[in-house]
Amino acid sequence: MFPKLWLPVMLVAVFAGVADAYDRPPPRENLIVSLDENADPTTPQQVHISLAGEARIRISWITDSHTPPMVYYGISQGKYDRSANGTVSSYEYLTYTSGEIHDVVIGPLDPSTMYYYCFALGSTQEYLFQTPPAQFPIKFAVSGDLGQTKWTKSTLEHISQSNYDVLLLPGDLSYADLLQPLWDSFGRLVEPQASQRPWMVTQGNHEVEKIPVVHQTPFTAYNARWHMPFEESGSISNLYYSFEVSGVHVIMLGSYTDFDPGSDQYQWLESDLKKVDRSKTPWLVVLVHAPWYNSNDAHQGERESVDMMESMEGLLYKAHVDAVFAGHVHAYERFNRVYNQEANDCGPMYITIGDGGNREGLASKYKEPQPTISVFREASFGHGEFEVVNASYALWSWHRNDDDESAQSDSVWIRSLASNHACNRLVI
Ligand SMILES: *[C@@H]1O[C@H](CO)[C@@H](O)[C@H](O)[C@H]1NC(C)=O
Ligand SMILES: *[C@@H]1O[C@H](CO)[C@@H](O)[C@H](O)[C@H]1NC(C)=O
Ligand SMILES: [Fe+2]
Repeated sequence: MFPKLWLPVMLVAVFAGVADAYDRPPPRENLIVSLDENADPTTPQQVHISLAGEARIRISWITDSHTPPMVYYGISQGKYDRSANGTVSSYEYLTYTSGEIHDVVIGPLDPSTMYYYCFALGSTQEYLFQTPPAQFPIKFAVSGDLGQTKWTKSTLEHISQSNYDVLLLPGDLSYADLLQPLWDSFGRLVEPQASQRPWMVTQGNHEVEKIPVVHQTPFTAYNARWHMPFEESGSISNLYYSFEVSGVHVIMLGSYTDFDPGSDQYQWLESDLKKVDRSKTPWLVVLVHAPWYNSNDAHQGERESVDMMESMEGLLYKAHVDAVFAGHVHAYERFNRVYNQEANDCGPMYITIGDGGNREGLASKYKEPQPTISVFREASFGHGEFEVVNASYALWSWHRNDDDESAQSDSVWIRSLASNHACNRLVI
């Protein structure tokens, strides 16, 4: 009797398991966001904002024909009692000429405040954004290798629902891959999110867009369209910079520019780390595109990972960096705190979050067995949230796009190294 009953019970258990399992989705096609054909060429498009030094925000937008680089803003809807003037630029790429790229820095602004803005007095097109808090708690959304597919849209919707303060993007934005109109399409796709909260990005391989024979300068579109606060952080290049927000010092590194000891980036990083004051910014995090720790089959052995890590890992370790977020591999992976290939309580926690949703799809093959320093790995689209609660604790969580639902799938509390006295004996 027992065996007769046992079999159906087992089958039910197996099928229940199958029903609960999550089928990895195939790539989704590009979602081209076009401008309405009848739209006035002076219509602002592709609006996005970024942090630009203490209490300041840079607003960037594009128009197809000339409009002045003016922003009108204030703290009540429809009432713009302040204004600021900026610059316009454009770039050429083979036969493509960009629209007018407007770049205006506004401020000083109050923390945790909603601002309303527009680009012409009397305009009915009003935008709004919220400034980050002056102190903890602060929540970062983290998403790399976004692209512009229907999966990207799903990820962006989940990010919107997360009530985040600032978005961190470790490279690979539009996947335009030389087709410049795709940069415009990407700008339109992300505008609903990127015009409301600061988006802080660093470059990936898809931003290089170098064409050797015609001497097309690398990063032409990226640098023109995504001007980050490098001048404000003492860097000579838009490809690496840092900023401080609500008690967190964030360093954006560049995988696709020189990183060897003696390079400008290396020297800048060394001096930026020396400026960090952990009593003011107890948290220190770094973003870089190509992951230094990675147990996926994809992107093993690339010089941007291996050589850059060899050059810079020691600097980050000595400076007590809390976490390093990377992209490039289209999957999610979380490592322990690590230094020099081994678990180390005083090293950074390494995260790969290159699962934003681009058209290339997922990287689903992993090295077996899973290295002991790798705690969680899964090839699914999704996004991360880094919620810094106070000077000592932060909650990292990963949210998978379960079909189009956002499902929290991994989470861990981490303690800041600044608050861990066992690590404080290390000196730079
Ligand atoms: C904005 O700056 C430009 C160039 O410096 C200047 O010509 C223009 O008059 C300024 N506009 C306003 C409204 O301040
Ligand atoms: C920081 O937040 C953690 C988690 O909520 C809490 O346990 C801890 O008491 C807080 N520490 C301080 C100093 O507020
Ligand atoms: Fe990449």
